[in-house]
Amino acid sequence: MIRSSAKTFPAFFHKMANQKTLVALDVGSSKIRTIVGLTQEKKNIINIIGVGISPSNGIRKGMVTDIDEAVSNITAALEDAERMSGEPIHRVFVGFSGPHIETFDSKGVIAINGANSEITEDDVDRVLDAARAVSLPSNREILRIIPKSFSIDSQHGIKYPVGMTGIRLEVEAHIIAGQTASMRNLEKCLYETGVDIQEIIPSSLACAETVLDKKQKELGVVLIEVGACSTNIAVFEEGTVIYSAVIPVGGEHVTNDLAIGLRAAIDTAEKIKIEYGTCLPNDVSDREEIDLSKISKSDTHSVSKKQVANIIEARYHEIFMMVRDELAKIGRDGMLPAGAVLCGGGVKIPGAVDLARASLQLPVQLGFPNDIEGIVDRVDDPSFASAVGLLQFGHKYGNAGSLLDFDFKKMFGSFSGFFRKLIP
Ligand SMILES: Nc1ncnc2c1ncn2[C@@H]1O[C@H](COP(=O)(O)OP(=O)(O)OP(=O)(O)O)[C@@H](O)[C@H]1O
Ligand SMILES: [Mg+2]
Repeated sequence: MIRSSAKTFPAFFHKMANQKTLVALDVGSSKIRTIVGLTQEKKNIINIIGVGISPSNGIRKGMVTDIDEAVSNITAALEDAERMSGEPIHRVFVGFSGPHIETFDSKGVIAINGANSEITEDDVDRVLDAARAVSLPSNREILRIIPKSFSIDSQHGIKYPVGMTGIRLEVEAHIIAGQTASMRNLEKCLYETGVDIQEIIPSSLACAETVLDKKQKELGVVLIEVGACSTNIAVFEEGTVIYSAVIPVGGEHVTNDLAIGLRAAIDTAEKIKIEYGTCLPNDVSDREEIDLSKISKSDTHSVSKKQVANIIEARYHEIFMMVRDELAKIGRDGMLPAGAVLCGGGVKIPGAVDLARASLQLPVQLGFPNDIEGIVDRVDDPSFASAVGLLQFGHKYGNAGSLLDFDFKKMFGSFSGFFRKLIP
């Protein structure tokens, strides 16, 4: 499909010479979201000048199930954003998630044999290569390798070893892998829409860029993004991602539970959830009823609001307990000082924060996109965290994302070999 050229759209926003346009494309299972932002060097705030949103009918569980539908939905979202911003879109930072993503830790060790045993960027490349030399089934590929910490000889906990001296360099890395076919199909869809991929970034890491602050990442925090098909988590400590996981349950499962429990059509169940849903059955009186004929043509019976809340609470509690199990795997259950920050469309249900606080036994808050100006009202929503975060990610790390939380570019001039190796 060829997109209509945005060159014909007037540029509504006057772009200054030192401003750069970045575009985020969040490919979700329920919605495709595009945001166009203007960035300026040395300025963290991104000026949002265009937003496009379209339903997602060709993507299920983070996998393309219908290329034509997916291409047409992505095209619609891109065209909306082009029209609003007056900027033609050529390159995009792509966010995605899905249960096909798996994560694990790996270690790499190398000997340092350069002059004076000083560690160079090449050594860091080599040790990361050693960490990624894990055997994966042929249908999986490494999407991202994140160095958690380096050790030189017996000194542990080093964030950036270049320039230090030692004879043995070790890295502890977190690896995110995905299904090869899913990634190729996603790339194929984008190719057909006529845009180039600047980088593909897992959704939870993108969200973390905008909803978490530096202090939370230093202290220890878990980001929880409840999407339609999956719930993504990323745990940060000392400024770095130490763990991430994808839990294959999301808002869609809540809707399915309601459809089954209330014997209502899926569309009706979704409307019930959005209009009357809550995670707090204790706040709902036993006598309140919902007359389905008011929101549906096919369903005409009435259902108890309390029953709706009970069904919703049960599924959300399950989701948060699964998050708790993930935290227990890394010894952080109830142990993160900055607690949990919630984002994604699924956390917009009333009571999500209270239920998460009780289930996780942690301080919990809602995460909204930060450091933005311009058309803020369109994206000031937890479900836009991933798209806004993609822009922040692109602005901060350029084409070669590192996930250590300090500014390499400023420190070392430009992104070169080492940083490129961080991207698979
Ligand atoms: N106000 C609301 N109350 C309850 N649930 C909501 C609300 N708004 C959206 N949702 C739910 O959020 C989910 C969609 O979230 P989101 O837009 O983050 O998902 P996605 O990015 O399309 O999917 P995924 O990330 O799983 O691929 C849906 O299940 C939807 O029912
Ligand atoms: Mg999503």
